[in-house]
Amino acid sequence: MKTNPLIHHVLLAVASTGLSLAQAPIPQPPHSGQPLPPNGPQQAAPFHGQPLQRAAMRPRPSHRPMAPVTRPARPSDPLPGLSADLLLAFSDGFEEFTKEETADGGLGPIFNQSSCVTCHLQGGTGGASRITVTRFGRVEKGIFNSLDALGGSLLQALSIDPAAREFVPREANIVSHRQTTPLFGLGLVEAIPESTILAGVRSGKPDGVKGKAHLVTDVVSGKTMVGRFGWKAQQATLLAFSADAYVNEMGVTNRFFPTENAPNGKADVLAAYDTIADPEDSIDPATGKADIDHSADFMRFLAPLRPLPLSDSANAGKTVFQSTGCAVCHTPRMFTGTNDIPALNQKAVDLYSDLLLHEMGILGDGIVQGEASGREFKTPPLWGARVSAPYLHDGRAPTLDAAIRAHDGEGAASKIRYTKLSVQQRQQLLDFIETL
Ligand code: HEC
Ligand code: HEC
Repeated sequence: MKTNPLIHHVLLAVASTGLSLAQAPIPQPPHSGQPLPPNGPQQAAPFHGQPLQRAAMRPRPSHRPMAPVTRPARPSDPLPGLSADLLLAFSDGFEEFTKEETADGGLGPIFNQSSCVTCHLQGGTGGASRITVTRFGRVEKGIFNSLDALGGSLLQALSIDPAAREFVPREANIVSHRQTTPLFGLGLVEAIPESTILAGVRSGKPDGVKGKAHLVTDVVSGKTMVGRFGWKAQQATLLAFSADAYVNEMGVTNRFFPTENAPNGKADVLAAYDTIADPEDSIDPATGKADIDHSADFMRFLAPLRPLPLSDSANAGKTVFQSTGCAVCHTPRMFTGTNDIPALNQKAVDLYSDLLLHEMGILGDGIVQGEASGREFKTPPLWGARVSAPYLHDGRAPTLDAAIRAHDGEGAASKIRYTKLSVQQRQQLLDFIETL
Protein backbone atom coordinates (compact mmCIF):
# COMPACT_ATOMS: atom_id res chain seq x y z
CA MET A 1 0.00 0.00 0.00
CA LYS A 2 1.46 3.36 -1.03
CA THR A 3 0.59 5.92 1.60
CA ASN A 4 2.18 8.96 3.07
CA PRO A 5 3.69 8.39 6.52
CA LEU A 6 0.72 9.98 8.29
CA ILE A 7 -1.89 7.81 6.58
CA HIS A 8 0.31 4.83 7.17
CA HIS A 9 0.38 5.66 10.86
CA VAL A 10 -3.42 5.87 11.00
CA LEU A 11 -3.84 2.62 9.12
CA LEU A 12 -1.47 0.90 11.51
CA ALA A 13 -3.45 2.32 14.40
CA VAL A 14 -6.59 0.82 12.90
CA ALA A 15 -4.84 -2.47 12.24
CA SER A 16 -3.70 -2.67 15.84
CA THR A 17 -7.30 -2.52 17.06
CA GLY A 18 -7.68 -5.98 15.56
CA LEU A 19 -9.20 -4.91 12.26
CA SER A 20 -7.56 -6.22 9.17
CA LEU A 21 -7.25 -3.05 7.14
CA ALA A 22 -3.86 -4.10 5.90
CA GLN A 23 -4.79 -7.66 5.13
CA ALA A 24 -5.02 -9.11 1.63
CA PRO A 25 -8.45 -9.41 -0.01
CA ILE A 26 -10.27 -12.59 0.91
CA PRO A 27 -11.94 -14.60 -1.86
CA GLN A 28 -15.73 -14.52 -1.43
CA PRO A 29 -17.98 -17.55 -1.62
CA PRO A 30 -20.39 -17.46 -4.58
CA HIS A 31 -23.47 -16.80 -2.42
CA SER A 32 -22.61 -14.48 0.39
CA GLY A 33 -25.93 -15.10 2.16
CA GLN A 34 -24.55 -18.48 3.31
CA PRO A 35 -23.45 -20.35 5.35
CA LEU A 36 -25.82 -20.56 8.27
CA PRO A 37 -24.25 -20.79 11.73
CA PRO A 38 -26.01 -23.53 13.73
CA ASN A 39 -27.06 -21.46 16.74
CA GLY A 40 -27.48 -18.03 15.19
CA PRO A 41 -30.60 -15.90 15.52
CA GLN A 42 -33.66 -17.27 13.75
CA GLN A 43 -34.54 -16.31 10.23
CA ALA A 44 -37.99 -15.51 8.94
CA ALA A 45 -39.66 -17.97 6.63
CA PRO A 46 -40.03 -16.87 3.03
CA PHE A 47 -43.20 -15.50 1.55
CA HIS A 48 -45.99 -17.90 2.62
CA GLY A 49 -46.33 -19.01 -0.98
CA GLN A 50 -47.87 -15.67 -2.02
CA PRO A 51 -48.31 -15.34 -5.77
CA LEU A 52 -45.58 -13.01 -6.96
CA GLN A 53 -46.72 -10.27 -9.30
CA ARG A 54 -43.85 -10.21 -11.69
CA ALA A 55 -41.73 -12.84 -13.34
CA ALA A 56 -38.70 -10.86 -12.27
CA MET A 57 -39.47 -11.61 -8.62
CA ARG A 58 -38.59 -15.26 -8.97
CA PRO A 59 -36.42 -15.99 -5.95
CA ARG A 60 -32.77 -16.33 -6.82
CA PRO A 61 -30.46 -18.50 -4.76
CA SER A 62 -29.37 -15.54 -2.66
CA HIS A 63 -32.98 -15.01 -1.59
CA ARG A 64 -32.80 -18.09 0.54
CA PRO A 65 -33.38 -17.01 4.13
CA MET A 66 -30.19 -15.80 5.72
CA ALA A 67 -28.72 -16.02 9.16
CA PRO A 68 -26.17 -13.36 10.13
CA VAL A 69 -22.73 -14.01 8.82
CA THR A 70 -19.52 -12.59 10.21
CA ARG A 71 -17.13 -11.16 7.69
CA PRO A 72 -13.63 -9.90 8.07
CA ALA A 73 -13.02 -6.28 7.23
CA ARG A 74 -11.14 -5.68 3.99
CA PRO A 75 -8.96 -2.79 2.95
CA SER A 76 -10.44 0.36 1.50
CA ASP A 77 -8.87 3.76 0.92
CA PRO A 78 -9.74 7.16 2.33
CA LEU A 79 -10.09 10.13 -0.03
CA PRO A 80 -6.70 11.62 -0.89
CA GLY A 81 -5.77 14.83 0.89
CA LEU A 82 -7.64 14.35 4.19
CA SER A 83 -6.29 16.17 7.24
CA ALA A 84 -5.03 14.11 10.19
CA ASP A 85 -8.31 14.71 12.05
CA LEU A 86 -10.42 13.51 9.16
CA LEU A 87 -8.20 10.47 8.62
CA LEU A 88 -8.87 9.56 12.22
CA ALA A 89 -12.59 10.10 11.67
CA PHE A 90 -12.33 7.74 8.67
CA SER A 91 -10.54 5.04 10.65
CA ASP A 92 -12.91 5.36 13.63
CA GLY A 93 -15.74 5.12 11.12
CA PHE A 94 -14.16 2.05 9.51
CA GLU A 95 -14.06 0.39 12.91
CA GLU A 96 -17.74 1.18 13.58
CA PHE A 97 -18.87 0.16 10.08
CA THR A 98 -17.23 -3.24 10.55
CA LYS A 99 -18.36 -3.76 14.16
CA GLU A 100 -20.66 -6.67 14.92
CA GLU A 101 -23.75 -5.50 16.85
CA THR A 102 -25.03 -7.77 19.62
CA ALA A 103 -28.44 -8.12 21.26
CA ASP A 104 -27.01 -6.59 24.45
CA GLY A 105 -25.82 -3.62 22.43
CA GLY A 106 -29.21 -3.06 20.80
CA LEU A 107 -29.28 -5.45 17.80
CA GLY A 108 -32.88 -6.40 16.94
CA PRO A 109 -35.37 -7.61 18.16
CA ILE A 110 -35.76 -7.88 14.37
CA PHE A 111 -33.00 -7.06 11.90
CA ASN A 112 -31.43 -8.08 8.58
CA GLN A 113 -27.73 -8.47 9.46
CA SER A 114 -25.57 -7.60 12.43
CA SER A 115 -22.96 -5.31 10.83
CA CYS A 116 -22.82 -2.91 7.89
CA VAL A 117 -19.84 -4.73 6.38
CA THR A 118 -21.71 -8.04 6.25
CA CYS A 119 -23.63 -6.66 3.28
CA HIS A 120 -21.22 -3.97 2.06
CA LEU A 121 -17.92 -5.67 1.16
CA GLN A 122 -17.36 -6.51 -2.52
CA GLY A 123 -14.14 -4.92 -3.78
CA GLY A 124 -13.31 -3.68 -0.26
CA THR A 125 -15.10 -2.61 2.90
CA GLY A 126 -18.06 -0.45 1.84
CA GLY A 127 -18.61 -2.31 -1.43
CA ALA A 128 -21.72 -3.97 -2.83
CA SER A 129 -22.77 -7.60 -2.44
CA ARG A 130 -25.37 -9.94 -3.79
CA ILE A 131 -27.13 -9.87 -0.44
CA THR A 132 -30.64 -8.53 -0.95
CA VAL A 133 -33.29 -7.12 1.36
CA THR A 134 -37.01 -7.72 0.86
CA ARG A 135 -39.69 -5.08 0.38
CA PHE A 136 -43.38 -5.90 0.37
CA GLY A 137 -46.68 -4.11 -0.04
CA ARG A 138 -50.17 -4.41 -1.42
CA VAL A 139 -51.64 -2.91 -4.54
CA GLU A 140 -55.39 -2.65 -4.71
CA LYS A 141 -57.26 -0.80 -7.47
CA GLY A 142 -53.94 0.65 -8.54
CA ILE A 143 -53.20 2.16 -5.11
CA PHE A 144 -50.03 1.09 -3.32
CA ASN A 145 -50.20 0.36 0.40
CA SER A 146 -46.83 -0.11 2.12
CA LEU A 147 -48.54 -2.15 4.89
CA ASP A 148 -46.81 -0.12 7.63
CA ALA A 149 -49.17 -1.51 10.26
CA LEU A 150 -47.96 -5.03 9.33
CA GLY A 151 -44.27 -4.18 9.37
CA GLY A 152 -43.85 -3.00 5.75
CA SER A 153 -42.50 -2.14 3.44
CA LEU A 154 -39.04 -3.39 4.53
CA LEU A 155 -38.85 -6.91 5.93
CA GLN A 156 -36.47 -7.61 8.80
CA ALA A 157 -35.75 -11.25 8.06
CA LEU A 158 -33.89 -12.20 11.26
CA SER A 159 -34.68 -11.93 14.96
CA ILE A 160 -32.87 -12.31 18.27
CA ASP A 161 -35.55 -14.81 19.36
CA PRO A 162 -37.58 -17.21 17.19
CA ALA A 163 -40.83 -15.92 18.75
CA ALA A 164 -40.15 -12.40 17.45
CA ARG A 165 -39.81 -13.39 13.79
CA GLU A 166 -41.18 -11.17 11.08
CA PHE A 167 -42.78 -12.67 7.95
CA VAL A 168 -44.01 -11.33 4.65
CA PRO A 169 -47.69 -11.03 5.62
CA ARG A 170 -50.49 -12.76 3.76
CA GLU A 171 -51.89 -9.36 2.80
CA ALA A 172 -48.85 -8.57 0.65
CA ASN A 173 -49.34 -9.05 -3.08
CA ILE A 174 -46.03 -7.45 -4.06
CA VAL A 175 -42.68 -8.78 -2.92
CA SER A 176 -39.47 -7.34 -4.30
CA HIS A 177 -35.79 -7.74 -3.57
CA ARG A 178 -33.15 -5.04 -3.50
CA GLN A 179 -29.50 -5.64 -3.86
CA THR A 180 -26.79 -4.04 -1.73
CA THR A 181 -25.21 -1.04 -3.47
CA PRO A 182 -21.54 0.03 -3.21
CA LEU A 183 -20.64 3.04 -1.05
CA PHE A 184 -17.29 4.05 -2.61
CA GLY A 185 -17.01 7.77 -3.26
CA LEU A 186 -20.36 8.68 -1.69
CA GLY A 187 -18.90 11.66 0.19
CA LEU A 188 -18.19 13.22 -3.19
CA VAL A 189 -21.73 12.41 -4.33
CA GLU A 190 -23.11 14.05 -1.18
CA ALA A 191 -21.05 17.18 -1.93
CA ILE A 192 -22.54 17.75 -5.42
CA PRO A 193 -24.77 20.88 -5.26
CA GLU A 194 -28.50 20.30 -5.65
CA SER A 195 -28.50 22.84 -8.50
CA THR A 196 -26.23 20.51 -10.53
CA ILE A 197 -28.66 17.61 -10.14
CA LEU A 198 -31.69 19.81 -10.84
CA ALA A 199 -30.04 21.14 -14.02
CA GLY A 200 -30.32 17.58 -15.39
CA VAL A 201 -34.12 17.73 -14.99
CA ARG A 202 -34.42 20.89 -17.03
CA SER A 203 -32.15 19.93 -19.87
CA GLY A 204 -34.84 18.38 -22.13
CA LYS A 205 -32.95 15.22 -22.88
CA PRO A 206 -33.12 13.23 -26.15
CA ASP A 207 -34.77 9.81 -26.56
CA GLY A 208 -37.89 10.83 -24.57
CA VAL A 209 -35.80 10.69 -21.41
CA LYS A 210 -37.16 12.93 -18.67
CA GLY A 211 -35.62 12.29 -15.27
CA LYS A 212 -37.15 13.46 -12.01
CA ALA A 213 -35.46 14.75 -8.89
CA HIS A 214 -36.73 12.87 -5.83
CA LEU A 215 -37.57 15.51 -3.24
CA VAL A 216 -37.44 14.00 0.25
CA THR A 217 -37.61 15.28 3.81
CA ASP A 218 -34.16 14.86 5.31
CA VAL A 219 -34.55 13.50 8.85
CA VAL A 220 -31.32 15.21 9.93
CA SER A 221 -32.19 18.80 8.96
CA GLY A 222 -35.97 18.47 8.58
CA LYS A 223 -35.57 20.21 5.22
CA THR A 224 -36.90 19.21 1.81
CA MET A 225 -33.86 18.10 -0.14
CA VAL A 226 -32.98 16.31 -3.39
CA GLY A 227 -32.64 12.61 -2.59
CA ARG A 228 -29.53 10.96 -4.04
CA PHE A 229 -28.86 7.74 -2.11
CA GLY A 230 -30.55 4.35 -2.51
CA TRP A 231 -32.18 2.66 -5.54
CA LYS A 232 -35.03 5.16 -5.42
CA ALA A 233 -32.93 8.17 -4.30
CA GLN A 234 -34.87 7.93 -1.05
CA GLN A 235 -32.32 9.67 1.20
CA ALA A 236 -30.53 12.99 0.74
CA THR A 237 -27.64 12.68 3.21
CA LEU A 238 -25.24 10.01 4.38
CA LEU A 239 -26.09 10.63 8.03
CA ALA A 240 -29.80 10.11 7.29
CA PHE A 241 -29.04 6.87 5.40
CA SER A 242 -26.76 5.72 8.19
CA ALA A 243 -29.44 6.35 10.84
CA ASP A 244 -32.01 4.59 8.65
CA ALA A 245 -29.71 1.58 8.14
CA TYR A 246 -28.99 1.29 11.88
CA VAL A 247 -32.67 1.05 12.76
CA ASN A 248 -33.94 -0.83 9.71
CA GLU A 249 -31.07 -3.24 8.91
CA MET A 250 -29.81 -3.84 12.45
CA GLY A 251 -32.62 -2.79 14.81
CA VAL A 252 -30.43 -0.19 16.51
CA THR A 253 -32.55 2.84 17.46
CA ASN A 254 -30.89 6.26 17.33
CA ARG A 255 -31.61 9.94 17.73
CA PHE A 256 -33.29 10.24 14.31
CA PHE A 257 -35.18 6.93 14.53
CA PRO A 258 -35.90 6.39 18.24
CA THR A 259 -38.66 3.79 17.69
CA GLU A 260 -38.00 0.07 17.21
CA ASN A 261 -39.68 -1.82 14.32
CA ALA A 262 -42.38 -4.08 15.78
CA PRO A 263 -42.37 -7.57 14.20
CA ASN A 264 -45.22 -7.39 11.65
CA GLY A 265 -46.45 -4.39 13.61
CA LYS A 266 -47.19 -6.38 16.78
CA ALA A 267 -46.53 -4.10 19.76
CA ASP A 268 -46.93 -6.91 22.32
CA VAL A 269 -44.27 -9.05 20.64
CA LEU A 270 -41.95 -6.06 20.49
CA ALA A 271 -42.55 -5.29 24.17
CA ALA A 272 -41.66 -8.86 25.11
CA TYR A 273 -38.28 -8.84 23.35
CA ASP A 274 -37.17 -5.21 23.33
CA THR A 275 -35.33 -4.88 26.61
CA ILE A 276 -32.81 -2.15 25.83
CA ALA A 277 -33.80 1.50 26.39
CA ASP A 278 -34.14 3.65 23.27
CA PRO A 279 -32.31 5.27 21.64
CA GLU A 280 -29.80 2.43 21.79
CA ASP A 281 -27.18 4.44 19.92
CA SER A 282 -26.45 7.67 21.74
CA ILE A 283 -23.81 10.37 21.52
CA ASP A 284 -20.60 9.59 23.38
CA PRO A 285 -19.76 12.77 25.30
CA ALA A 286 -16.04 12.03 24.88
CA THR A 287 -16.22 12.25 21.06
CA GLY A 288 -19.50 14.12 20.50
CA LYS A 289 -20.48 11.31 18.11
CA ALA A 290 -22.82 8.32 18.05
CA ASP A 291 -22.30 5.17 15.99
CA ILE A 292 -24.46 6.57 13.17
CA ASP A 293 -22.08 9.55 12.94
CA HIS A 294 -18.99 7.32 12.81
CA SER A 295 -20.40 5.19 9.99
CA ALA A 296 -21.43 8.35 8.11
CA ASP A 297 -17.82 9.61 8.48
CA PHE A 298 -16.50 6.34 7.05
CA MET A 299 -18.75 6.66 4.00
CA ARG A 300 -18.11 10.39 3.57
CA PHE A 301 -14.33 9.93 3.45
CA LEU A 302 -14.29 6.62 1.53
CA ALA A 303 -12.50 7.08 -1.80
CA PRO A 304 -14.03 6.03 -5.12
CA LEU A 305 -12.34 3.03 -6.72
CA ARG A 306 -9.57 4.09 -9.07
CA PRO A 307 -10.50 3.76 -12.75
CA LEU A 308 -8.35 1.31 -14.71
CA PRO A 309 -6.22 2.43 -17.68
CA LEU A 310 -8.12 2.44 -20.99
CA SER A 311 -7.19 -0.27 -23.49
CA ASP A 312 -7.69 0.61 -27.18
CA SER A 313 -11.00 -1.23 -27.11
CA ALA A 314 -12.17 0.54 -23.93
CA ASN A 315 -11.11 3.86 -25.40
CA ALA A 316 -13.26 3.20 -28.46
CA GLY A 317 -16.07 2.14 -26.09
CA LYS A 318 -16.02 5.56 -24.47
CA THR A 319 -17.31 7.04 -27.74
CA VAL A 320 -19.87 4.25 -28.15
CA PHE A 321 -21.15 5.05 -24.62
CA GLN A 322 -21.96 8.58 -25.79
CA SER A 323 -23.31 7.68 -29.24
CA THR A 324 -25.62 4.96 -27.87
CA GLY A 325 -27.28 7.46 -25.54
CA CYS A 326 -26.07 5.91 -22.28
CA ALA A 327 -24.56 9.19 -21.10
CA VAL A 328 -27.97 10.90 -21.25
CA CYS A 329 -28.76 9.25 -17.89
CA HIS A 330 -25.38 7.88 -16.85
CA THR A 331 -23.86 11.40 -16.73
CA PRO A 332 -20.10 10.82 -16.80
CA ARG A 333 -18.98 13.69 -14.59
CA MET A 334 -20.34 16.16 -12.05
CA PHE A 335 -18.44 18.50 -9.70
CA THR A 336 -18.71 19.01 -5.98
CA GLY A 337 -19.47 22.55 -4.83
CA THR A 338 -17.41 24.69 -2.51
CA ASN A 339 -16.78 22.70 0.65
CA ASP A 340 -14.94 23.43 3.90
CA ILE A 341 -13.19 20.09 3.55
CA PRO A 342 -10.47 20.45 0.87
CA ALA A 343 -10.75 16.77 -0.14
CA LEU A 344 -14.40 17.43 -1.09
CA ASN A 345 -13.97 20.95 -2.44
CA GLN A 346 -14.74 21.45 -6.16
CA LYS A 347 -13.70 17.95 -7.14
CA ALA A 348 -14.61 16.10 -10.32
CA VAL A 349 -16.95 13.20 -9.54
CA ASP A 350 -16.86 10.60 -12.32
CA LEU A 351 -19.95 8.77 -11.13
CA TYR A 352 -21.80 8.04 -14.41
CA SER A 353 -25.21 8.93 -13.02
CA ASP A 354 -27.58 11.91 -13.17
CA LEU A 355 -28.92 10.93 -9.70
CA LEU A 356 -32.45 11.31 -11.14
CA LEU A 357 -35.40 8.93 -11.18
CA HIS A 358 -36.48 7.41 -14.49
CA GLU A 359 -39.53 5.38 -15.49
CA MET A 360 -38.02 2.00 -16.33
CA GLY A 361 -41.14 0.20 -17.64
CA ILE A 362 -41.10 -3.55 -16.98
CA LEU A 363 -38.08 -3.21 -14.68
CA GLY A 364 -40.40 -1.57 -12.11
CA ASP A 365 -40.69 -3.29 -8.74
CA GLY A 366 -44.18 -2.04 -7.84
CA ILE A 367 -42.89 -0.50 -4.59
CA VAL A 368 -43.80 3.16 -4.12
CA GLN A 369 -41.33 5.00 -1.90
CA GLY A 370 -41.82 8.70 -1.15
CA GLU A 371 -42.37 10.41 -4.51
CA ALA A 372 -40.78 7.52 -6.44
CA SER A 373 -43.35 5.38 -8.22
CA GLY A 374 -43.34 1.61 -8.58
CA ARG A 375 -41.68 2.00 -11.98
CA GLU A 376 -39.03 4.54 -11.13
CA PHE A 377 -35.41 3.99 -10.23
CA LYS A 378 -32.48 6.32 -9.80
CA THR A 379 -29.81 5.90 -12.48
CA PRO A 380 -27.22 3.84 -10.59
CA PRO A 381 -23.67 5.23 -10.79
CA LEU A 382 -21.49 3.02 -12.99
CA TRP A 383 -18.18 3.82 -11.30
CA GLY A 384 -16.87 0.66 -9.68
CA ALA A 385 -19.35 -1.50 -11.67
CA ARG A 386 -16.48 -3.88 -12.41
CA VAL A 387 -16.70 -5.16 -8.83
CA SER A 388 -20.44 -4.86 -8.12
CA ALA A 389 -21.96 -7.76 -10.12
CA PRO A 390 -24.69 -8.92 -10.29
CA TYR A 391 -26.61 -5.89 -11.56
CA LEU A 392 -29.95 -4.03 -11.44
CA HIS A 393 -31.99 -3.31 -8.33
CA ASP A 394 -32.75 -6.95 -7.62
CA GLY A 395 -29.50 -8.37 -8.95
CA ARG A 396 -31.29 -10.23 -11.75
CA ALA A 397 -28.58 -9.43 -14.34
CA PRO A 398 -25.44 -11.55 -13.95
CA THR A 399 -23.48 -9.48 -16.49
CA LEU A 400 -23.26 -5.89 -17.70
CA ASP A 401 -24.63 -7.03 -21.06
CA ALA A 402 -27.72 -8.55 -19.41
CA ALA A 403 -28.24 -5.37 -17.36
CA ILE A 404 -28.18 -3.19 -20.48
CA ARG A 405 -30.51 -5.50 -22.42
CA ALA A 406 -33.05 -5.29 -19.56
CA HIS A 407 -33.43 -1.47 -19.88
CA ASP A 408 -37.01 -0.47 -20.68
CA GLY A 409 -39.22 2.61 -20.40
CA GLU A 410 -37.10 5.76 -20.65
CA GLY A 411 -34.09 3.51 -21.26
CA ALA A 412 -35.67 1.61 -24.19
CA ALA A 413 -34.38 3.78 -27.06
CA SER A 414 -30.81 3.52 -25.85
CA LYS A 415 -31.15 -0.22 -25.22
CA ILE A 416 -32.43 -0.79 -28.77
CA ARG A 417 -29.46 1.14 -30.14
CA TYR A 418 -27.18 -1.09 -28.03
CA THR A 419 -28.68 -4.29 -29.46
CA LYS A 420 -28.06 -2.95 -32.99
CA LEU A 421 -24.37 -2.26 -32.44
CA SER A 422 -21.84 -4.59 -34.02
CA VAL A 423 -20.48 -7.34 -31.78
CA GLN A 424 -17.18 -5.45 -31.69
CA GLN A 425 -18.77 -2.14 -30.66
CA ARG A 426 -20.74 -3.84 -27.90
CA GLN A 427 -17.53 -5.38 -26.61
CA GLN A 428 -15.82 -1.98 -26.69
CA LEU A 429 -18.67 -0.49 -24.67
CA LEU A 430 -18.49 -3.29 -22.08
CA ASP A 431 -14.69 -2.99 -21.93
CA PHE A 432 -15.12 0.71 -21.22
CA ILE A 433 -17.58 0.16 -18.36
CA GLU A 434 -15.20 -2.44 -16.89
CA THR A 435 -12.57 0.31 -16.44
CA LEU A 436 -14.77 2.74 -14.47
C1 HEC B 1 -28.83 -6.65 5.14
C2 HEC B 1 -27.82 -6.03 4.31
C3 HEC B 1 -27.43 -4.61 4.63
C4 HEC B 1 -26.89 -4.11 5.80
C5 HEC B 1 -26.64 -4.85 7.09
C6 HEC B 1 -26.59 -2.73 5.54
N1 HEC B 1 -26.95 -2.40 4.26
FE1 HEC B 1 -26.69 -0.58 3.38
N2 HEC B 1 -27.69 -1.25 1.76
C7 HEC B 1 -28.24 -2.50 1.61
C8 HEC B 1 -29.15 -2.52 0.48
C9 HEC B 1 -29.97 -3.70 0.00
C10 HEC B 1 -29.12 -1.21 -0.06
C11 HEC B 1 -29.99 -0.66 -1.20
C12 HEC B 1 -31.28 -0.29 -0.47
C13 HEC B 1 -32.29 0.52 -1.23
O1 HEC B 1 -31.91 1.40 -2.00
O2 HEC B 1 -33.47 0.30 -0.99
C14 HEC B 1 -28.19 -0.45 0.77
C15 HEC B 1 -27.87 0.89 0.54
C16 HEC B 1 -27.09 1.66 1.37
C17 HEC B 1 -26.75 3.05 1.12
C18 HEC B 1 -27.13 3.85 -0.13
C19 HEC B 1 -25.98 3.82 -1.10
C20 HEC B 1 -26.25 4.34 -2.47
O3 HEC B 1 -25.80 3.72 -3.42
O4 HEC B 1 -26.90 5.35 -2.68
C21 HEC B 1 -26.03 3.48 2.19
C22 HEC B 1 -25.45 4.86 2.39
C23 HEC B 1 -25.91 2.35 3.11
N3 HEC B 1 -26.56 1.27 2.56
C24 HEC B 1 -25.25 2.39 4.31
C25 HEC B 1 -25.28 1.34 5.25
C26 HEC B 1 -24.76 1.44 6.60
C27 HEC B 1 -24.08 2.65 7.19
C28 HEC B 1 -25.00 0.25 7.21
C29 HEC B 1 -24.74 -0.16 8.64
C30 HEC B 1 -25.41 0.69 9.61
C31 HEC B 1 -25.67 -0.59 6.22
N4 HEC B 1 -25.82 0.11 5.05
C32 HEC B 1 -26.05 -1.88 6.47
C33 HEC B 1 -27.99 -3.59 2.41
C34 HEC B 1 -27.48 -3.52 3.69
C1 HEC C 1 -33.32 6.53 -19.12
C2 HEC C 1 -32.06 6.57 -18.42
C3 HEC C 1 -31.05 5.50 -18.76
C4 HEC C 1 -30.41 5.27 -19.96
C5 HEC C 1 -30.57 6.01 -21.26
C6 HEC C 1 -29.50 4.17 -19.71
N1 HEC C 1 -29.61 3.74 -18.43
FE1 HEC C 1 -28.56 2.28 -17.56
N2 HEC C 1 -29.76 2.36 -15.93
C7 HEC C 1 -30.76 3.28 -15.71
C8 HEC C 1 -31.50 2.92 -14.53
C9 HEC C 1 -32.67 3.69 -13.92
C10 HEC C 1 -30.95 1.72 -14.07
C11 HEC C 1 -31.40 0.89 -12.86
C12 HEC C 1 -32.56 -0.02 -13.26
C13 HEC C 1 -32.87 -1.12 -12.26
O1 HEC C 1 -32.06 -1.37 -11.37
O2 HEC C 1 -33.90 -1.77 -12.38
C14 HEC C 1 -29.82 1.42 -14.95
C15 HEC C 1 -28.93 0.36 -14.78
C16 HEC C 1 -27.80 0.16 -15.54
C17 HEC C 1 -26.77 -0.80 -15.26
C18 HEC C 1 -26.69 -1.68 -14.00
C19 HEC C 1 -25.94 -0.94 -12.92
C20 HEC C 1 -25.97 -1.59 -11.57
O3 HEC C 1 -25.18 -1.18 -10.72
O4 HEC C 1 -26.78 -2.49 -11.32
C21 HEC C 1 -25.83 -0.71 -16.25
C22 HEC C 1 -24.55 -1.52 -16.39
C23 HEC C 1 -26.31 0.29 -17.18
N3 HEC C 1 -27.48 0.81 -16.70
C24 HEC C 1 -25.65 0.64 -18.34
C25 HEC C 1 -26.24 1.42 -19.33
C26 HEC C 1 -25.72 1.54 -20.68
C27 HEC C 1 -24.45 0.90 -21.19
C28 HEC C 1 -26.60 2.33 -21.35
C29 HEC C 1 -26.56 2.69 -22.81
C30 HEC C 1 -26.68 1.58 -23.71
C31 HEC C 1 -27.64 2.74 -20.41
N4 HEC C 1 -27.40 2.14 -19.21
C32 HEC C 1 -28.66 3.62 -20.68
C33 HEC C 1 -31.01 4.38 -16.50
C34 HEC C 1 -30.57 4.51 -17.81
